[in-house]
Amino acid sequence: MQRAAAACVTSVVALFGAPMAASASEAALGLPALAAPPAAQVALGRALFFERRLSINGTLSCAMCHVPEQAFTANELRTSVGMEGVSLRRNAPTLLNVAFVQRLFHDGRAGSLEEQAVMPMIHPDEMANPDLAGVVLRVSTWPEYRMLFRRAFGSGRPTARGMATALAAYQRSLLAADSPFDRWRFGGHPDAITPQQQRGFELFVTQGCSSCHSVGERDALFSDQRFHNVGVQMRSEASRQRDLRVELIPGVDAVMTRDELRRIGVPDASDLGRQEVTGHTSDARAFRTPSLRNVALTAPYMHDGSFDTLEEVLDHYRVGGWQADPRQDQRIRPLPINRDERDAIVAFLRSLTSPRLPDCANAAASRRACGPTR
Ligand code: HEC
Ligand code: HEC
Repeated sequence: MQRAAAACVTSVVALFGAPMAASASEAALGLPALAAPPAAQVALGRALFFERRLSINGTLSCAMCHVPEQAFTANELRTSVGMEGVSLRRNAPTLLNVAFVQRLFHDGRAGSLEEQAVMPMIHPDEMANPDLAGVVLRVSTWPEYRMLFRRAFGSGRPTARGMATALAAYQRSLLAADSPFDRWRFGGHPDAITPQQQRGFELFVTQGCSSCHSVGERDALFSDQRFHNVGVQMRSEASRQRDLRVELIPGVDAVMTRDELRRIGVPDASDLGRQEVTGHTSDARAFRTPSLRNVALTAPYMHDGSFDTLEEVLDHYRVGGWQADPRQDQRIRPLPINRDERDAIVAFLRSLTSPRLPDCANAAASRRACGPTR
């Protein structure tokens, strides 16, 4: 995949086509057209999304890791915290515009939102249910869900398939585009973004960012939907090694081994990314290209949340990623850009924030009550 990389200036339009005739669909400026999911399924999915009783001990809902008010990620956590405080090894991705993601999870191991939706329920470190049948049985004892299921599917009896369909429908409703950038690029408003942001976009294209974070002629997902190693994982492992150096007496250091760390409760965070799915060493430490829409709201960054700010991300690219990783994508090379140019790219990235976020994502601003409503 890495050597074919130069040829991957994939057109977003070609990848997505039009999933539905434009008349039967809702288009947000900047996004491909998409059929709106049935409202009754969205309503059921939303209730399930906030439902803490879906977890084995009634403590953890989807919304606690994908926090609506934090752009459906968790801004304070580099990697998610699951059942009984256990640290997961990856950052919770935003669910905004997840409708367009072809292969879900950072390593692409799930093929559809329906398939994905039930995975957290039975993951031992997430909702920790031993099986789905038990979850369905539990939901069927909650009277308030009967009406929701009847409206969504015509029958009041909950099924695993119905739950998955509804959660997927809700997540497909979380569209967030129509940003200042979209109004400038696709809406014909030449003043919608500042000259600095325009300069930033120009650099974004000329410095090769858009060869992976694709921008089409009519819309832009800022992702080629493929998997690349941009040096993050090996950099994180190296900096962990540094952090783990403990000073025994002044001037005498010791590095703790993985075993010693496990014994004191630090998780072993090795992560082969896409290779864990395909088995190919050429996919080592490769992760899905994330969309950059609303990226100003979704810190911390990368699959392991190892960067706190967009400036840090840009500095990583500026020095050429992590050159010590022999599997790093060939396109990640030191960039000939100065600090002002870096800041222009960051300013451009900030123009990708949607002014109208779906559901509770702007609850803080509008003081709209956010939480389970049935
Ligand atoms: C304990 C925290 C936690 C809970 C609870 C949780 N998630 Fe996630 N979610 C994550 C993390 C972490 C990832 C990334 C995992 C990976 O890539 O391996 C993720 C990934 C996803 C993705 C893939 C997004 C993408 O861009 O690839 C979707 C969709 C998703 N979760 C939906 C849900 C739904 C629906 C629920 C409830 C049924 C849920 N999550 C519960 C932490 C959580
Ligand atoms: C070779 C493909 C490729 C190129 C070129 C590339 N990126 Fe990325 N980008 C990725 C991948 C893959 C990730 C996720 C890496 C990970 O999680 O380990 C990423 C992550 C990011 C993130 C973090 C997003 C998030 O939600 O965590 C930002 C911001 C970003 N890239 C901006 C840029 C900019 C700006 C450039 C140009 C200087 C650029 N990228 C060039 C593939 C690429």
